[in-house]
Amino acid sequence: MAGADNEAQIEFWNGQAGRTWADAQVQMDVMLAPLSAIAIDKANPQPGERAIDVGCGCGDTSVAMAQRGAAVWGVDISEPMLDRAKERAKGRKDLAFSKTDAATQAYTPDHPLLFSRFGVMFFADPIGAFKNLRTALTDDGRMVFICWQAPSANPWMSIAARALQPFLTAPPSADPRAPGPFAFADRDYLIDVLTQAGFANVRVEGATTNLHLGDNLDEVIRFQGEIGPIARALAELQGEERDKALRAVRDALSAHMTSDGLDLQAACWLVSATSR
Ligand SMILES: C[S@@+](CC[C@H](N)C(=O)[O-])C[C@H]1O[C@@H](n2cnc3c(N)ncnc32)[C@H](O)[C@@H]1O
Repeated sequence: MAGADNEAQIEFWNGQAGRTWADAQVQMDVMLAPLSAIAIDKANPQPGERAIDVGCGCGDTSVAMAQRGAAVWGVDISEPMLDRAKERAKGRKDLAFSKTDAATQAYTPDHPLLFSRFGVMFFADPIGAFKNLRTALTDDGRMVFICWQAPSANPWMSIAARALQPFLTAPPSADPRAPGPFAFADRDYLIDVLTQAGFANVRVEGATTNLHLGDNLDEVIRFQGEIGPIARALAELQGEERDKALRAVRDALSAHMTSDGLDLQAACWLVSATSR
């Protein structure tokens, strides 16, 4: 079953990564706001509608959908991120959060909407996970999520990652479809996964925007180093090597700074499908 295989991700999101995401929640949500708006507009949650926010993290999109009147259940495996989400939901009856592996949870088929902002690329068995998620939908239910296109279309992550590469001993993962932010970068593969999982009317549109990474280089480096794509890689380095690597990242990013700070392109797939 998929659940047992998600152990590595469960450990990852309950460790330093989950804590850092929870600490950086405000900054992250401000940065991702343009992409949240695109995805939530597409999902178009209706008043009173039951929705599941898959991999809801700190709950930003759950709150936004509840503000549009939906009754939202946020599911996630990360305790530190869910704690943050629960704080935000205090006093609201239209929001519930639970620590749940979305891939194996036993659902009832009474949710017209499955939604996710970057929370569905981490399943060890994607087809099995989406098959299971589909069981949560009503007969006329729909699913809408956003996920990342390839690193090359996402300079907001890839510039820093490329600058760090020469300092790393481990080669980049050989399997581009391994659980992680870019697991669904290949559009045809993504369509195939959802189709094999039983979804109908699968549509995958490109959505591109600029993300504001910070007002100055110090802010950008701090944020990217803590939470972004380079955080994991930097954790491997220490002392002088780490300083050198950070200088290389700084040089690479400084070429793109403007007087308004650093804005770089982010490219997602905006995915929609129906349960049948
Ligand atoms: C990149 S974060 C996105 C969080 C949030 N949706 C946001 O946009 O801020 C990915 C999230 O997916 C969650 N996640 C990963 N695998 C999961 C699984 N099997 N079931 C539920 N959540 C999962 C992680 O814990 C993490 O919160």
